[in-house]
Amino acid sequence: MRKLIKHVLAETDPKDLVTVKGWVRTRRDSKGFSFLELNDGSCLGNLQVVVDAGIRGSEHLAQFTTGAAAVVEGKLVASPAQGQKWELRANRLELVGVADQTYPLQKKGHTQEFLRTIAHLRPRSNMYGAVFRMRSRLAFAVHQFFQERDFVYVHTPIITASDCEGAGEMFRVTTLKGNIDEKPATDFFGKPTYLTVSGQLEGETFACALSNIYTFGPTFRAENSNTARHAAEFWMIEPEMAFCDLQGDMDLGEEFIKAMARFALEGCAEDLALFTKFVDKQLQERLKFVVERPFVRVSYTDAIEILKKSGKTFEFPVQYGLNLQSEHERFLTEEHFKSPVTVFNYPKEIKPFYMRLNDDQKTVTAMDVLVPGIGEVIGGAQREERLDQLLENMKFHKLKPEEYWWYVDLRRYGTVPHAGFGLGFERLLMFLTGVSNIRDVIPFARTPGTAEF
Ligand code: 4AD
Ligand code: MG
Repeated sequence: MRKLIKHVLAETDPKDLVTVKGWVRTRRDSKGFSFLELNDGSCLGNLQVVVDAGIRGSEHLAQFTTGAAAVVEGKLVASPAQGQKWELRANRLELVGVADQTYPLQKKGHTQEFLRTIAHLRPRSNMYGAVFRMRSRLAFAVHQFFQERDFVYVHTPIITASDCEGAGEMFRVTTLKGNIDEKPATDFFGKPTYLTVSGQLEGETFACALSNIYTFGPTFRAENSNTARHAAEFWMIEPEMAFCDLQGDMDLGEEFIKAMARFALEGCAEDLALFTKFVDKQLQERLKFVVERPFVRVSYTDAIEILKKSGKTFEFPVQYGLNLQSEHERFLTEEHFKSPVTVFNYPKEIKPFYMRLNDDQKTVTAMDVLVPGIGEVIGGAQREERLDQLLENMKFHKLKPEEYWWYVDLRRYGTVPHAGFGLGFERLLMFLTGVSNIRDVIPFARTPGTAEF
């Protein structure tokens, strides 16, 4: 029976017979015996295998090169070597798949840029093994967080006819050939359809029935932003709560990010130590800080004043009514407050139609959570629950209510104050690993001009 290396390394007693399967990281030959470092991706650590000359299978030893797949059977004994508790004294070796000298991961220390060009092999490196184990654990933690709080997981559709964010950054889904705008009624769904930019609108319908819900799924944006924090395909987590206002929404966002940081510190310690050593020396300190301190909350209006008075020269203008750019967000969270910051109450002109209009008639109940190193990780809002006002908002944003009839219906039948947010899973992972490019926390990045693998 095969045992994963993470369990072998965690054994408390020696074992007479252990079988492991994995890929050779390195081999060192001495007189009469060899050392193999075997890794199966179950953890960062390798299992050291000692191969005495003459054991079964050792006639193929020369082919146990870096990258080769192997099965090893042997005796688990205390290792005399420093830094490892156990080693495996092999009594049988089996070569499963060879890897010749062209295997690209021969040596350590490749650049992230190079590793992106071999995204099919990079999970076999220490760094990316750690990133993707952590991604898996964090996905679990997301579900655990919401399930423990009685949120219902809703699978919102990936193909949709509505543009939630109203930014027109959608990928068209069509089976038409030629001029696809000529006869949209003859298209597969009888109208123009797109890959979703957000599950929020459908999520709201479920919140207005099941009270607290969340979505967690792929999301698509056809924005032509070639930055380190934008992907054309990413995963978003979107909670939505009925009978909830902006305060409750900000509270949940803060609690959620704190819980994820705590989970990373406690549940991914080995991988996190690797990131702290090789990617970002301040990582663990920063995550502890995030867990322990309340986030700063500041209105958009005050944030603009702070930016204006900062004396900094920014590339993009700072002016009431304009969007905060990444450089502004990062100044607020990294330099001014030195803490995660929740910015709320943005001008209605720069936010989507579904946000609730404040009594000042100028701002809407939006909130963005900004964190050091990334900027925006959460975008959310209290939703406009008043029918008349929602119709006004739609007019203001030049949307046709009849195209959103089902969404408008929520305000006709048992409408309630409700609120929610969207958190980009990759941006969260960047924050928790210190990895600075979104392309390196998603298995196969989709960005403008790139859809390899
Ligand atoms: O701020 P956004 O656009 O908000 C929404 O989509 C709302 N409908 C969410 C809601 O209220 N239910 O996106 C939410 C988050 C951002 O804060 C960011 O973390 C992430 O999604 N995000 C992206 N992540 C990677 N690549 C992109 N192109 C992203 N665009 C948004
Ligand atoms: Mg946003």
